[in-house]
Amino acid sequence: MNNVVIMTHPLIQHKISRLRDKNTGTNEFRALVQEISMLEAFEALSDLPLEDVEVETPLMTCKSPMLSGRKIALVPILRAGLGMTEGILNLVPSAKVGHIGLYRDPKTHLPQDYYCKLPSPIDERTILVLDPMLATGGSASEAVTFIKQHGGKNIKFMCIVAAPQGLEKLQKDHPDIQIYIGHLDEGLNENAYIIPGLGDAGDRIFGTL
Ligand code: PRP
Ligand code: URA
Repeated sequence: MNNVVIMTHPLIQHKISRLRDKNTGTNEFRALVQEISMLEAFEALSDLPLEDVEVETPLMTCKSPMLSGRKIALVPILRAGLGMTEGILNLVPSAKVGHIGLYRDPKTHLPQDYYCKLPSPIDERTILVLDPMLATGGSASEAVTFIKQHGGKNIKFMCIVAAPQGLEKLQKDHPDIQIYIGHLDEGLNENAYIIPGLGDAGDRIFGTL
């Protein structure tokens, strides 16, 4: 599993437990999703390349590292991925944002696509695909396939809660991507919802329960 990072930071674990609580209301839920996303992105972007540039401090001139080269694209999967975007933009305000619209068919649980708009060109960018839930893995895998079809190469997928089944599918379909997970849960129920999970992430973020 060397392309998978499962977060262990106590702040992330604490905030995920607050998300799971069915009594956590929309306001707090949204804020927590943003905070967790920012903390996870801190890890997911830890390999961004640096270059030394000359900086004049009040005392002297020195060489000091700044981000170089690769630019960043965030690609939230609609709807729930939208809830993660603002938090990460706080860290990387110059990132471009693409959108992929997918929903799960309630009977087959297979992803149905309805929208795709990505920054162009995308091939030079580090791409962070965002979705709080990796359940069967169908939506994440389809989104990564779209991005590859548009030329995306350096792709990272970030979620808050994952089921082992979804992780296995995403790794099998796309062994070349990096995967960042807030917490790896037990599995899926008969409706392909993650258990213990946190319920329907989109409904809880947008208050459409
Ligand atoms: C949820 C979630 C993921 C998908 C995960 O979206 O946000 O996109 O399900 O399930 P999978 O791994 O089995 O594909 P949903 O289809 O409920 O749409 P929404 O975000 O618009 O509510
Ligand atoms: N989508 C969600 O929002 N939650 C799940 O547990 C599975 C899919």
